[in-house]
Amino acid sequence: MTKRIGVLLSGRGSNFEALAESVATGRIPNAEIAIVISNKPDARGLERAKARGIETRLIPSKGLEREAYDRQVAAVLHEYEVDLICLAGYMRLLSPYFVAEFPQRILNIHPSLLPSFPGLESQKQALDYGVKVAGCTVHFVDENLDAGPIIVQAVVPVQDTDDEHALSERILKEEHRIYTEAVKIILEGKFKIVGRRVIRTA
Ligand code: GRF
Repeated sequence: MTKRIGVLLSGRGSNFEALAESVATGRIPNAEIAIVISNKPDARGLERAKARGIETRLIPSKGLEREAYDRQVAAVLHEYEVDLICLAGYMRLLSPYFVAEFPQRILNIHPSLLPSFPGLESQKQALDYGVKVAGCTVHFVDENLDAGPIIVQAVVPVQDTDDEHALSERILKEEHRIYTEAVKIILEGKFKIVGRRVIRTA
């Protein structure tokens, strides 16, 4: 059975593109991206999806209360019968309603080694703190910000010459790689969650 992925994004869409490429080339087997939803009309990710012939939906969030908005998004995801939801630069907090609607079926990519540097501008936070290694995390989404069980992480070195741009670029390459890896693990069902730990199974 082909698994159906829904992607939520707000901007550039490079993680979406990486997932779409992995689906197209079979690195994520037996899957399709059924729908891409953005809350921002000018999200480049929407154009990238259209260019690939993937269905898109713009659901503007301005002025809407969080749960009312999330109910609209959830309705579209149900309409497209998605099995997995991938947040890919989706700049909104999810309501408890939304999280409960799709238990253990929402993933997020975050540009830090969680639990370090949650929230915005993680790469800048890492540089300002002075860490020597940085990285990225794919995790399940729960009610808290950047906090659910971790599926895959990747480490990148911080160079003395790095500015925010250089470090972000190095991390982004790894984001694209591990998001594919995590989606594959979850769609194949080869894992179990024990406490906070996501354990791989054969
Ligand atoms: C990425 O750094 C991702 O980790 C964070 O937002 C950024 C989105 O980039 N959540 P893109 O839109 O996927 O290019």
